[in-house]
Amino acid sequence: MYSIHKLTSTPTYFFMPKRIVFEVNGALKLGNELQLLGVEKGSKVFLVLDPAIKGLEHPLKTVKSLEESGYVVDVYTDVEYEPTIECLKRAVSYVRNDDFKAVVGIGGGSTLDIAKVSAAAKDNPNRNVEEFIGMDKIPKRVTPIIALPTTAGTASEVSRFTVFTRGVGKVGINGYNVLPDIAVVDPVFTYTLPPKVTAGTGLDALSHAVEGMISLDATPMSDALGFIAVELVFKYLRRAYYRGSDVEARYFMSLAATSAGAPLNIGRAILGHSISQTFGPQFKVHHGTACGMVLPYIMEFYLPAVPEKLAAIAKAAGVDTSGMKIKDAAEEAVKATWKLVEDLDVPLSLRDVGISKSDLETLAERSVKEWPRPNSPIELTKERVLKVVEAMYEGRLMKIKT
Ligand SMILES: [Fe+2]
Repeated sequence: MYSIHKLTSTPTYFFMPKRIVFEVNGALKLGNELQLLGVEKGSKVFLVLDPAIKGLEHPLKTVKSLEESGYVVDVYTDVEYEPTIECLKRAVSYVRNDDFKAVVGIGGGSTLDIAKVSAAAKDNPNRNVEEFIGMDKIPKRVTPIIALPTTAGTASEVSRFTVFTRGVGKVGINGYNVLPDIAVVDPVFTYTLPPKVTAGTGLDALSHAVEGMISLDATPMSDALGFIAVELVFKYLRRAYYRGSDVEARYFMSLAATSAGAPLNIGRAILGHSISQTFGPQFKVHHGTACGMVLPYIMEFYLPAVPEKLAAIAKAAGVDTSGMKIKDAAEEAVKATWKLVEDLDVPLSLRDVGISKSDLETLAERSVKEWPRPNSPIELTKERVLKVVEAMYEGRLMKIKT
């Protein structure tokens, strides 16, 4: 199940925020969380708010409650979807020009990523944000970060990763200093998400769990939360998609997405995110949708290397695997994922999102080059990845019949 050699020969780490509050309407008690972090009343708070939700009732109530609890709130909404480095720089120069004592992000992954790096950049005023690109390149951070997700998928509220667009590609500003101090997960924000966003973000959560568990860096602790995420996504994502007002489904999808932050933080993404982060931005496919499209294909790709892990994932997905051979059970995980993606009306072929056959070679090459994955249990080469994207183009798995 794990790379035992690795576990016994190298240290492992577990990253999650200091505190994760999970509560329906929990956003309305944000002031308490700031107080817990030692932010004095009367202090100025930089609140990065997702522009897509700025006029909605629950975000407005949240800002009001924060003001009523004694904080001076500066609401900042200059956030793009899949933000560019330029967008980040604007937020950084804004936050550096005032005496903010805390940063709060309320929104989808893009908004939370801007909030996380803004706080860290504030504490390193002499550095250009470009210097932060990479892993653990931010020297220090003392400004507290509270993150409230408004979708159920990215896990940015608990992750040490952020993603920004630079040119045609993506770059990450990652590490301990962008990990939020507190995550407040209030499922109420997700009640109004349209079905398409519900499907895409939900599949993003599933891909974080599955990729992080297949990874060579997976640990028993990160897997524990990964299995919870898989179980919840298979139980509740269809319900949340088909009936958005199903509050039970919404609650457990929020729990799934946040739980999947552990395998994402520890195991980290593998081939699925390499391919999706390459074709998604180029062909304007939503990040989570792109991750969902590729997920069954990469599970099949990794099956020979991690059959036990996939068999365990099948069980968590609700498949009765008793009496099955490991390999057969592992194949069931791939089939169940395929079926889920299909049920959510997400395309399973690259053709369906406007990619032509002549794009495949560059897609394979860029996926490997721009997103190398030393944690991948199968070494990634252009030739191997090309086979995966060729199958994706046709909309058929390589061997497994669905
Ligand atoms: Fe993702």
